[in-house]
Amino acid sequence: MFDYSNFDYTTFRLYIKVFSFVIALLLTQMTLVEWRRFRNTVYKYLALGFGTMLLQISLIVIINLYSIVSGLSYHSTIIPVADHALRTLSYIFIAAAFVTAKPVYRSRFIMVNVAVLVLLTPVMGALWSHNGTVTQPPYIGMVEESFFELWNTFLLIYTIRTISKSEVHIKRGLVIATSVLVVKQLIHLANLYLLNDQPVHFLAAEPALLILYFYATISTIHKEIIGNIIQADKEKTMVKEKSYQDVIRALITSLEAKDKYTRGHSDRVTEYAMLIGNKLDLAPDDLTKLYCGAILHDIGKIGIDEGILNNPLTLGDDEITRIKKHPEIGAKIVSSIDSLSYVAPAVLYHHERFDGTGYPFGLKGTEIPLHARIIAVSDAFDAMLSVRSYRNPVSKQTAINEIISGAGTQFDSDLVKVLVEELGFSMDNNKAVTRTA
Ligand SMILES: [Fe+2]
Repeated sequence: MFDYSNFDYTTFRLYIKVFSFVIALLLTQMTLVEWRRFRNTVYKYLALGFGTMLLQISLIVIINLYSIVSGLSYHSTIIPVADHALRTLSYIFIAAAFVTAKPVYRSRFIMVNVAVLVLLTPVMGALWSHNGTVTQPPYIGMVEESFFELWNTFLLIYTIRTISKSEVHIKRGLVIATSVLVVKQLIHLANLYLLNDQPVHFLAAEPALLILYFYATISTIHKEIIGNIIQADKEKTMVKEKSYQDVIRALITSLEAKDKYTRGHSDRVTEYAMLIGNKLDLAPDDLTKLYCGAILHDIGKIGIDEGILNNPLTLGDDEITRIKKHPEIGAKIVSSIDSLSYVAPAVLYHHERFDGTGYPFGLKGTEIPLHARIIAVSDAFDAMLSVRSYRNPVSKQTAINEIISGAGTQFDSDLVKVLVEELGFSMDNNKAVTRTA
């Protein structure tokens, strides 16, 4: 059986308070970081609440240490009253954090409570000095203790009510945590009035509940912080992607404004390229790169004279040489935009041919990057179906036959096969085209 008479309450209390100090420090830091990051007033008042709690705990740790080191009990009136007053102040701030209906209600709530605290704390101190019979720290007189403890209980119940009514996401966890603290208060009051502060297991129940409160609060706030970080990251990515898409769209619009024959061409080439990419089971990241490469493949035409781009007559050698510069111009444009530089190879090599007779470098077979090979076949297919300055469109069947005849020479035959099949046709003997069911 535990020998209550030998129980060293001062040392026990010191252990609990040192532990509470660490937790309160952690809570103060966490809420401060959240307040700085999101400028959320709830966290501002929580930081004030936990900060005040930290001050209160520090005070008790110092006094306990003093008692242990000096071997004397501390009899000052100021300390126990200051301890209760600081705890009350921390509960006032925590309750105020959730008064979110109107900012003016929060200010009024704090002002009224702090005014009562400032006015009545010295009275409680004076009363305790007068009636001061309880000399074991941290006890104060019955009247004074009752005043603070009943007020604290009221503040905690009020906090639960305001949390329930507020818009915070972490409602459930905070209601549970605060309810634990209310239970601690009720035990404290029962202990005070009914049990006369004697049974040690009752004294131990309070620190245990305090630890439970800290645990519930930390895990709730931690969950909220992680949630906030994930949300902020998502928003950042969305903003980045949006601006990225805006840049691509602006480039395409300026190209289409200049070259009326390529209007919608980039979108359709992208559509065919994505059909091939999906069928090849490219990774999501790779598909995104293919998408950007396909949509921007002809961007270099921005640098070609409008008269050449829209010339309905046959182009001369000099003009053909100039138009053949568009892959290099395009690669230069995308390379100059950091977030798009990775599409440069697809843009640069989309006019290379599988047999090595293409431009600008005459790369052959798999020397040509996969994305450029996919874009090449998609580009040629759509070009045949579209109106151009120099010719009329051909039928889908004819266009398919044309790309099949270019398989292995102009295009990668594996990719031709994929596209043909994705378009609902099948290749027979590498030439014939029959509709699949
Ligand atoms: Fe092109």
